[in-house]
Amino acid sequence: MGMLQFLGHSAFYLEGNGIRALIDPFLTGNPMASEGADARKEIDYIFVTHAHGDHIGDAVEIAKRTGATMFATNELANWFKGKGLNAEGMHIGGRATFPFGRVKLTHAFHGSSMWEDGKMVYSDFPCGFLIEVDGKKIYHAGDTGLSVEMTLLEAEGVEVALLPIGGYFVMDVDDAVRAVGFVKPKKVVPMHYNTFPPIKADPFDFAEKADGIAEVIVAKPGDTIPF
Ligand code: NI
Ligand code: MN
Repeated sequence: MGMLQFLGHSAFYLEGNGIRALIDPFLTGNPMASEGADARKEIDYIFVTHAHGDHIGDAVEIAKRTGATMFATNELANWFKGKGLNAEGMHIGGRATFPFGRVKLTHAFHGSSMWEDGKMVYSDFPCGFLIEVDGKKIYHAGDTGLSVEMTLLEAEGVEVALLPIGGYFVMDVDDAVRAVGFVKPKKVVPMHYNTFPPIKADPFDFAEKADGIAEVIVAKPGDTIPF
C-alpha cells in the first residue's frame, strides 16, 4: 500500500514499493511546512514541477544530501545536472518506466523561472506528474490554470489527484472543481492555497463543490493519505 503525506503548499512525500520521494519540496521559508529540509535521511527521487521558488524549494540541497535523482522537464533537469545531481530529463506527454513504476509528464499552463546570481533564469515549460506507485496513479498538477488537456487524464484512471485551488497564479476553487470533473480521480487533495495572501482560498468550499465527483480529502500539513 502506498502513502502520500502533505507537507504544506504543494509539497508532498510519496512512499510505496521501491520509492521514497518528495514532490515540490518547498520547506525552508514555507509558512505552512510541516517539516524542515533535513527531516528525511533517505529520499530516492525528487519530482520538481517547475523552477519557481515555492516548488524547487530545497530540492537541490536535499538531493545533494541524499543522492536522490531528480525528475523534471529536460531544461530544468539539465540545470540540476549542472549542479552535479542525477536527473531524468523527460518531457511533456512522455512516459517512461522506472523500478517503482511509470512516470508521465503532463501539461501545466504556467511559467518556470528563477533568480540565480542576480539574473532571471528561464527553464521553459512547467509540468505536472503522473506517477505510478504500487500500480496506482498519483497526479500532481503542479502550478496550472484549468485546461482541456486535463480531460486526457480521465482515461488514465487516476487514484489521487493533487490540485491547486488558490487562484491568482493557478486555478481557483471553481476552476479546480471543473478540473476534478475533467480528471475524474477517485480521491482529490487541494493544494497551493493560504500559504501567502494572494492565494487565499477555502478548501471546504472546494470540498463541498467537488463532492460527488471524487472523494475530497482536505489535508492539514503533516497529514498522511493512504492509497
Ligand atoms: Ni509557479
Ligand atoms: Mn506556485
